[in-house]
This record gives sequence, structure tokens and C-alpha cells, in this order.
Amino acid sequence: MPIKSICCLGAGYVGGPTMAMIAAKCADIQVTVADMNEHRIAAWNSAALPIYEPGLDAVVASAIGRNLHFTTDIRSAIAAADLIFVSVGTPTKSYGIGAGRAADLRYIESAARLIAEVSEGNKIIVEKSTIPVKTATAIKAILAANSPHGATFQVLSNPEFLAEGTAVEDLECPDRILIGGETTAEGNAAVEALAAVYARWIPRERILTTNLWSSELSKLVANAFLAQRISSINSISALCEATGADVDEVARACGMDSRIGPKFLKASIGFGGSCFQKDILNLVYLCDSFNLPHVAEYWRQVVHLNDWQKTRFVEKIVRTLYNTVNGKRIGILGFAFKKDTNDTRESAAIHVCRDLLLERAHLAIYDPRVSPQTIREDLAAAGVSAEIIASNVEICTDSYAAATGAHALATLTEWDEFRTLDLPRIYDLMLKPAFIFDGRAILPADELTAHGFDAFVIGRGL
Ligand code: UDX
Ligand code: ADP
Repeated sequence: MPIKSICCLGAGYVGGPTMAMIAAKCADIQVTVADMNEHRIAAWNSAALPIYEPGLDAVVASAIGRNLHFTTDIRSAIAAADLIFVSVGTPTKSYGIGAGRAADLRYIESAARLIAEVSEGNKIIVEKSTIPVKTATAIKAILAANSPHGATFQVLSNPEFLAEGTAVEDLECPDRILIGGETTAEGNAAVEALAAVYARWIPRERILTTNLWSSELSKLVANAFLAQRISSINSISALCEATGADVDEVARACGMDSRIGPKFLKASIGFGGSCFQKDILNLVYLCDSFNLPHVAEYWRQVVHLNDWQKTRFVEKIVRTLYNTVNGKRIGILGFAFKKDTNDTRESAAIHVCRDLLLERAHLAIYDPRVSPQTIREDLAAAGVSAEIIASNVEICTDSYAAATGAHALATLTEWDEFRTLDLPRIYDLMLKPAFIFDGRAILPADELTAHGFDAFVIGRGL
């Protein structure tokens, strides 16, 4: 049966944009995104969307009210749907067994219980959230044991590979769509029904179908491989700083080898975002659970190196500023985990700012898209006291305000606007010597010295 009505539980960074694209491409399918967070739903229904993503406004505007709906009425949305995407958060567990590594599946479980309670007839349930391998089994068991109206379910895995900041392009033209299902007649039919939705705008040869476990595991492995490349190049950035090599040149030379490829070789202060660390920790937990400690240890190192890179950057700042930043004003350019998003989850900037605040620096933080409230909440969640946030954190409205009277400036996110800063103006605004720490290697390194700055560029040295 062709899909006529879709519901998505979770109106976050994944659910919102993905459903908007499906609705935009399939005018005859009703798409309802349901979330219990009233503010989020109200924002999706307003002109100011809750997430910043280039091009997303236009996609939402093309379908909202026609076949795209955002609601808090989760039960009605489930009841009306042929196919239900589960796109609720799966944070790393912070308590009990597997704390700090395993995924916390309580939102997935409560979503599954609600689906079971409300559903009638046949429904296809699609895991969209990143989840540990074999979660589909848990979902199936909950659905089977809790369906008062005798509904039947097919559970599919359809991991999302979009990256924030490029979500619209990634959804419009994905490298691949992966759909995992049970290898039974009903399972195959469900896979085909979902594949037919994507086939409206994605060439069939890019729609891969696998068994459930391969699909679930592929998502973790793809993210682990990408993160591993970043940790690899970041490890080399330290060696470049020590030897006088330039990490961008090394990355270019290596990336031109078609077997290696150029992407994900940009040195940084460390990867952030809601996926990489969480997925690797998930993989590590999985390997430990299956008694594969060598495999677990191998992947754990990717996260260790990432943590070290953040710490190393802070140490570089403190050491360079004559071993103390106590009372010194440091301008922070960028707080989001990457450019073109307002998302700060696991942003390396949070760690860098927290550690500088522990060293008693005064921070003047500017990010083009992250709200002052989010910055303060993130620092508080990272353990910075309310008093220190009140006394030592200033949120600025542009880069020049952050640079005014600063001993040092640090670029933590690669926003395009930082590439074209008026460097002589910045220099005039700062105390001398004027130190710049370019954690993303985006500023024109040679010009920095010519303009009089004492510059440190990640992977290049002072
Ligand atoms: C990632 C995956 O790319 C995506 O396929 C998956 O669906 C979700 O996780 P995302 O976290 O949104 O996407 O962004 P990504 O572009 O992968 O960047 C992750 C982090 O790595 C950012 O902090 C980014 O700044 C950093 N990064 C990326 C580098 O430091 N160097 C690089 O070369 C690339
Ligand atoms: P992601 O980046 O994976 O999209 P987010 O945290 O941005 O994750 O979004 C997850 C959303 O899921 C949140 O808005 C949260 O309120 C919502 N959510 C959690 N549990 C449920 C549920 N049972 N039904 C509907 N929405 C839910």
C-alpha cells in the first residue's frame, strides 16, 4: 500500500528538516511532526524556526499548512499515520549501567509504548534517531506486548546521514538512503513502501536496502570513520606545530590521493555535535558488551584524542599568555559546534570556555547564531558556577566588540564572517601584544603577523 500519511515523533534537528523535505517533495502525502515541547512546535509554526539551517525556511514555507503540520497532539498524529518515524533524542546515559557510554533509550521506549497504545491496523515504524544496534528488537517487543487494539507493526531502520549546516542540500541530494528491514515478505513490503517515498526525488541506485542490524550498525560506523579522520588529522596538527610543517598542506597532499580523499581532514580544536562522540561511545559500549575489548579500545582512542585536542588548545593559550589568564579579557569568536548552525551540543567551544573560566579569564563571547541564553546554559551545564558566569562572561553582538580591550582572541567556530574580519581594526581594538589563537585555521596566517599580531594557528604553530 502506498504511504499516504506520515507522522514523525520529535521535532528536533533531524525530525524537523527531514519531514519538511519529504513534505516538500511529496505533495500528496500528509506529514505531521509531533513533539511534546510546546515552544518548539510553536516556533516551527512561526516565522522564526527553532533551528537555523541555511535554506530551511523556504522548504518549510513551501509545504506548511498544505501537507506539513507541526503539532503537540502526538496521539492523533500517531493514529492518523501509515508510517511513523521515531526521531526523539538518544543522549548518552549519565547514570547507572553504561553511564557515559551507552545510549539512554528512555525517549525511544516511551515513544514505542505510546505508539502501541494508540495504534490500530497496520503501521510501519521507522527508527530515525541514532540508536544502538538491536534497538529494533526492543521496539518490536514493546509494540507486540502493548497493543490493545491488535495493531500489527513492521519496524525499519532508516538512519539519517544529514550534517547540520548543510541539512537541506544533504536531504535534497543524499549520497545514499539506507533502509534496513526484516527479511520476510512483510518486512520487504515495508522497506519497499518507504523506498517509494524517497524514490520521488532520489535515484533508486542510491537507495540501499539491508537487514536491520546492518543498517543500525552502518550509521554508527559511518560516524566513527568520519570522527576518526578528524582525530587523525588533529593528532598530526600537534606534530606539525612541533616540526614547522603546516597541517593544511599535509592534509591537501594526503587528500589528493584518491584512496584517501580530501574531506574531513580539516584540523580543528576538536569535533563536536550531537552524533560523533555519542556514536563512538555507543560503538565502544557495544564492543565491550560483546567482549571485544581490543576493538573497543581502538575506537575509544578517537574520543581521547579529541578531548586532548581541546585541552591542548587551552594550555596553549594559557602558556602563551605568560602562564596566566587570571583577569584577562579573551575574545571568543564562535560557540556553535560548526558553522551555519545554532546547535551547540558537545561543541568544543564549551570545553575551551569552561577551562578558560576555571583559569579565571574574562570571556567576551560572540557567535552569529547562538543565543546568549544557550551560551550561559551550556556553560552552567558544563559546571561553571552562576557567579562566574555572571561576573566573567560577556556576550557580544559582533567580533569587534569581543576584541575590544582583549589580551587575546580565539576563533573556535569556522563561521565565514571570521574569514573576512577587518584585521587592522581588530588589532587597534586589542591590548598589546595582541594574541590570536586560530583554533580553526581560517584566518589568513601570513597577514596576521604582517598586521602585528602574535598569532598561533592550529597545526601551524606560532
Ligand atoms: C555528523 C555526520 O557528518 C552526519 O553524517 C551524521 O548524520 C551526523 O553527524 P554533524 O555532526 O552535523 O554531522 O556535522 P559534521 O559536519 O560531521 O561535523 C562534526 C564536527 O566535526 C564539527 O564540530 C566540525 O567542526 C568537525 N569537523 C568536521 C572538523 O573538525 N574537521 C573536519 O574536517 C570536518
Ligand atoms: P535530534 O538532533 O536527534 O533531532 P533533538 O534533541 O533536537 O534530537 O530532538 C528530539 C526531540 O524529540 C525533542 O524536541 C523532544 O522534545 C522530542 N521527543 C522526545 N520524546 C518524544 C516523544 N515520546 N514523542 C514526541 N517527541 C518526543
